[in-house]
Amino acid sequence: MSLRTITKLAASVALIALTSGAAKAADNVEVLHWWTSGGEAAALEVLKKDLESKGVTWSDMPVAGGGGEAAMTALRARVTAGNPPTAVQALGFDITDWAKQGVVGDLGEVANAEGWDKVIPTALQNFSKYDGKWIAAPVNVHSTNWVWISKKALDAAGGAEPQNWDEFVAMLDKMKANGITPLAHGGQPWQDATLFDAVVLSLGTDFYKASMIDNDPAALSGDKMKEAFSRMEKLRSYVDDNFSGRDWNLASAMVIEGKAGAQMMGDWAKGEFLKAGQKPGTDFVCIRFPGTQGAVTFNSDQFMMFKVGEDKQKAQLLMASAIEDPKFQSAFNVVKGSVPARTDVPNTDFDDCGKKGMADLAEANEKGTLFGSMAHGHAVPASIKNAMYDVITRHFNGDLSTDEAPAELAAAVAAAK
Ligand code: GAL
Repeated sequence: MSLRTITKLAASVALIALTSGAAKAADNVEVLHWWTSGGEAAALEVLKKDLESKGVTWSDMPVAGGGGEAAMTALRARVTAGNPPTAVQALGFDITDWAKQGVVGDLGEVANAEGWDKVIPTALQNFSKYDGKWIAAPVNVHSTNWVWISKKALDAAGGAEPQNWDEFVAMLDKMKANGITPLAHGGQPWQDATLFDAVVLSLGTDFYKASMIDNDPAALSGDKMKEAFSRMEKLRSYVDDNFSGRDWNLASAMVIEGKAGAQMMGDWAKGEFLKAGQKPGTDFVCIRFPGTQGAVTFNSDQFMMFKVGEDKQKAQLLMASAIEDPKFQSAFNVVKGSVPARTDVPNTDFDDCGKKGMADLAEANEKGTLFGSMAHGHAVPASIKNAMYDVITRHFNGDLSTDEAPAELAAAVAAAK
């Protein structure tokens, strides 16, 4: 065989390797996210498997830290270095902030072909689109105003699901008298703020809108806000001494293991109960935070796609299309604890908490009592959210009194605007 033929052969072998390498790279997505708890990882597995079945491989970039603060910091470093990941889990106003910087891609090709406009609620589209373009694919709707109660602890406390603030306090008192930590909580600003969202909402939907969304100074500094902080102070008396810094899923584990009676948390907490093999109605009970029935504070996890080289765009579009597939939306959310972003997915495969979540969302959307969660970046931009976090956590940790807190909150918000 002549040398010429050998070199020609070697060249074509290299070429095949390159192209197949390139083809493989084109169908690979590198995804930055903060889904590292047991329940979150189980849901992510559904997405990874689904993409694999469509020929898209997954390069994982997990950044631990519930609520996503650390993930957003890691993302900033990647974007600044000019090396954004293919896709990123992102929330609400953070998506809009990135879009304003001109670094996000356009999913219009898939979104328009698949008619997303007809099946994704406006409340989500407000963040999935920028300048009329689809820039993110919403995978779910989480709602945050839930309480997850150990069935055993509830039965020992009389068995009645609390319907209002006074009944909630009475239940927590009974749990305390029964020698169990009444409220499992993780002392981190985003968790304190998630609790605060529900407490504010329990004082009225108009009040939530005026204070958390419109940031009306009178609502932020008035008597009702003082009542909100006084309720936070009351709830502080039901958490254990080791709450500071605890991750949210470890607080869920306290309820799962019977070490605590209840946890106030978004429905991602349900993913932990399911991962532990527990069943709604049998092992645990899901209720709306007492006083917030009929209203919902939501956040939606969306996969935002960055401007990447042509070789990666095909994988982005495949991923976006996979995420909005109705079957996938059901399979993923059944495990994650959230409900589908699409409005046309049947609730057949969802458990009773999931079915309730879907019904509550539709009802609140109908009635105008569906609000973006402040704590999860769907009510105000990050600068104002973080200013609120600071005041809420200083108060919850006892560094600020209930008398001082409302004025502090109004001042912090004004300074952040
Ligand atoms: C939220 C996110 C949820 C869940 C939670 C805890 O911000 O939307 O999907 O992961 O954080 O990490």
